[in-house]
Amino acid sequence: MLARSALRTIATPSSRLFHQSAARQTKVAVLGAGGGIGQPLSLLLKNDPLVTSLSLYDIRGAPGVAADVSHVDTGSEVAGYAADQLDQALEGVKVVVIPAGVPRKPGMTRDDLFNTNASIVRDLAAAIGRVAPTAHILVISNPVNSTVPIVAATLEKAGVFDPKRLFGVTTLDVVRAARFLAGLSSVSPAESPVTVIGGHSGATIVPLLSQSEYGKKITGEAYEKLVNRIQFGGDEVVKAKDGAGSATLSMAYAGAKFTHALLRGLNGEKGVVTPTFVKSPLYADQGIDFFSSNVELGPNGVEKIHEIGPLTAEEQKLLEACLPELKKNIEKGKAFVAN
Ligand code: NAD
Ligand code: LMR
Repeated sequence: MLARSALRTIATPSSRLFHQSAARQTKVAVLGAGGGIGQPLSLLLKNDPLVTSLSLYDIRGAPGVAADVSHVDTGSEVAGYAADQLDQALEGVKVVVIPAGVPRKPGMTRDDLFNTNASIVRDLAAAIGRVAPTAHILVISNPVNSTVPIVAATLEKAGVFDPKRLFGVTTLDVVRAARFLAGLSSVSPAESPVTVIGGHSGATIVPLLSQSEYGKKITGEAYEKLVNRIQFGGDEVVKAKDGAGSATLSMAYAGAKFTHALLRGLNGEKGVVTPTFVKSPLYADQGIDFFSSNVELGPNGVEKIHEIGPLTAEEQKLLEACLPELKKNIEKGKAFVAN
């Protein structure tokens, strides 16, 4: 399952969000489509040539969002579903993106969202397991380090879990890393891709700057600051929004970018590689069975999980700080479903 090739990566930001060649098209559902992420994400997916049909669900407001987005003059059909229509929303879907749940306010950690979001995600996963058991599931809802294990354990209970079809969306960390590094290096983000591994919260976010052409030139205090900004970029937005929520627009962009990458892989395109939080053998011997690293996406979802490659002493320290916290977050998610 492991490979270490330097295949083309979607971590390379593109001036175009979407490639134009549409080989096979697909029905995609957004659960939480009425929210701060859900609305712009639905719009971006309406503009994705690989999406045939969009199914928009929320406990509030999805029919309105669907009516609005459906007037955009792209090929896909759009339908909106109200609170009691979750099963209808999931019928025939190939890909389900989940941004449902509450966002942070200043002073909160992502883990503080667990009590509210864990049951939202569990219930949505149970419905997917029942109605669309072969769908690919992309989890945005925080805390991702715990919500992904919750989805896995819920599907496992239902006897329909396939680790190749479950993804925690960590693309925003990759997008931020490329953007912040580009700013420091006076290049375009397309020239400064960064692989980000681990999980999606504070110290569990581990950017591998030494593996980047421009990243390896950043040293000393500038390196410390850049790593900190990548790890805590979410806090920057939460603080600036001052109680009105967390990143929504950049997250919608990142969610649409990851969805498009997956659709390219599902359509048989080779060499689509990006970091994502999946069930992974990389640190399973330490009891950490979900981890984000570069993953090749293919017709079945996860095609190959790449090794993390050589680390500097600084990155090794970051990884040592990541692993115990990640392990706790994963165990908390599993325990929630078990109990
Ligand atoms: P929001 O409050 O604006 O929207 C959330 C939406 O979820 C609302 O419309 C709400 O009605 C809906 N919802 C709640 N329960 C639901 C259910 N059972 N079924 C369907 N829909 C339901 O919040 P937001 O800013 O869009 O953020 C959503 C989540 O995404 C948060 O948990 C946030 O922390 C997370 N997030 C993750 C990342 C990431 O990088 N993975 C980035 C940003 C935000
Ligand atoms: C982010 O990284 O922006 C999201 O996880 C939202 C948050 O709570 O910071």
